Amino acid sequence: MAKFTSQQLQQWGLSPQSLPRHVAIVMDGNGRWAQEKGRPRTFGHRAGTERLREIIRFSSDAGIGALTLYAFSTENWRRPEEEKSVLFSLLVEYFSKEIDELHENNVRITIFGEKDPFPQKVCQALVRAEERTRDNTGLRLNIALNYGSRAEICRAVRLCCEESAKTGAYPGDEAFEQHLYSAGQPELDLLIRTGGEQRLSNFLLYQAAYAELYFTPVFWPDFTREEYILALQAFQKRARRFGGL
Ligand code: FPP
Repeated sequence: MAKFTSQQLQQWGLSPQSLPRHVAIVMDGNGRWAQEKGRPRTFGHRAGTERLREIIRFSSDAGIGALTLYAFSTENWRRPEEEKSVLFSLLVEYFSKEIDELHENNVRITIFGEKDPFPQKVCQALVRAEERTRDNTGLRLNIALNYGSRAEICRAVRLCCEESAKTGAYPGDEAFEQHLYSAGQPELDLLIRTGGEQRLSNFLLYQAAYAELYFTPVFWPDFTREEYILALQAFQKRARRFGGL
């Protein structure tokens, strides 16, 4: 349920009727943000983690249906051990600190990606967060971890083939979508990438078919609620035709 009133949203220049149903964010630029300050990259990841609270809270209070955050890609395993280890500690710390409030706010957490390759402590924190919030009916908060869109699509194809072999039926679009991590969630309307790069980097390739893309040079740790509102305003100015006229 949205906690902001229509008037509040309008004060921020947002129309309550046409908010995106599903927003995805590539949270890029943590490393450069830290390096600009002469600090180690991991300092940027910590600042980036602190930024999450405000953006998640705003999405939930505005009544956005789903928020998908790209936190660790299948390619990020190539990062130095020390950086990965800090990221994993931040994940565990994040869930232990934030889970009560997320749960109280009726947020349902889903992990997009295979959890098994993560250290046991991380895996446990992720499974617990999903289980604890499973019955919540508010914001769908998806955290993409060990996620890659091509792997997600290949997995869905494999699952469809397995089903087909059993039933003898040819799976259609709907059956395919049921095997994506985003199954049953609202259509992706807006994909934001912070940090200045303008590419999708193997994120939600199937789901982004009709999404509006918003690129900002702002580094993720500086992506405040005000910056988020700018992205939402830009989304609401786009004419969406979905292939029609
Ligand atoms: C990209 O910045 C960011 C990441 C690879 C990690 C994103 C992770 C977080 C914001 C924190 C953990 C998340 C949760 C859900 C607790 P980069 O390091 O590639 O930045 P750069 O492009 O400046 O090098």
